[in-house]
Amino acid sequence: MATIRAKILGIEDYFPEKVVTNKDLEKIVDTNDEWIVSRTGIHERRRSEAHETPSFMGVEASKKLFKKLSIDPLSIDLVMVATITSDHIFPAAACLVQRDLGLKNAFGFDLGAACSGYLYGLETARAFIESGRAKNVLLIAAEKMSAILDFQDRTTCVLFGDGGSASLVTAGDERSYIIDSLLRTDGSGALCLYMPAGGSKSPPTHETIDRRDHYVKQDGKTVYKRAVTDMADICSEILAKNKLTGSDIALFVPHQANIRIIDAASERMGLPKEKVAINIDRFGNTTAATIPTALIDCERKGQVKRGDLVLLASFGAGFTWGATLLRY
Ligand code: UT7
Repeated sequence: MATIRAKILGIEDYFPEKVVTNKDLEKIVDTNDEWIVSRTGIHERRRSEAHETPSFMGVEASKKLFKKLSIDPLSIDLVMVATITSDHIFPAAACLVQRDLGLKNAFGFDLGAACSGYLYGLETARAFIESGRAKNVLLIAAEKMSAILDFQDRTTCVLFGDGGSASLVTAGDERSYIIDSLLRTDGSGALCLYMPAGGSKSPPTHETIDRRDHYVKQDGKTVYKRAVTDMADICSEILAKNKLTGSDIALFVPHQANIRIIDAASERMGLPKEKVAINIDRFGNTTAATIPTALIDCERKGQVKRGDLVLLASFGAGFTWGATLLRY
């Protein structure tokens, strides 16, 4: 029996037009451009208008993608939205996307794996394609982080940005396919990066609002240490498992949380800067959306082409992390 493989057929992105620079943030919190750039690599990020929710950004990116690939929306059989900032707690943003794109033959759900949402979603899409249970999977990764940021907390509000993407995952071929994927979860880190209230454990009350519990809280140092080690380790593991070394990789697309975390992982694999995808400077940390938006950015710039060996890697809230190896 012929083995079905899965590939990313195409990606498109959507970013809100409004740019927020480090200088803009200096007017709101006690921070400065020098600190933000040297500690994180971020120069600016995008901020959504009210209507620019994850479903909206996903729909806009999907429309561009369908046009580029000449895809009939009726051919989509599964839609997933990787996000931690879904339009509503329920229904899933995937339902809104299904409605707004007229995906009459698709079922859908949201996937909450934070910064690893894209890699978790890609692996889920791959399982549906390889098993023959789906032919065309629309994977949206989109975040409106500005809705859950505390603009009185300089340790978090400077880090994140808004943005989205849509990827189409279909049957692969010899030149283009997902080779392997390793995904990890360690819930002992659950409270190192989280939003305390708003879920069923702590529904909204005047007290939760007064405590500013509906915003992102992060123990940055602990997350940083784990990210540096675990992202580099999982990259080494997937390369060794597939009998490859860093020199075989044409492009490394790491989650964009901090340029220092990216540099540490790249250096461990001996990768020169031109083989590393960076968009954190322009967009900050867009959580689930960093990897697909950085990958399509590199394709547009000619930094990667179809058939190249590409390594994707993530680390984030949960903790969740992972690495995916593919022929693009
Ligand atoms: O994508 C999800 C996963 N998230 C991550 O991977 C993020 C991981 N963590 C990090 O990237 C880093 O820990 C941060 C960028 C969040 C912080 O960098 P750091 O080098 O670990 O800084 P720090 O927390 O040790 O803070 C150093 C100093 C502190 O001042 P004192 O106590 O030394 O006087 C902070 O109060 O920097 C201060 N600080 C700031 N100063 C100016 C913290 N935030 C700011 C700020 N502007 N925005």
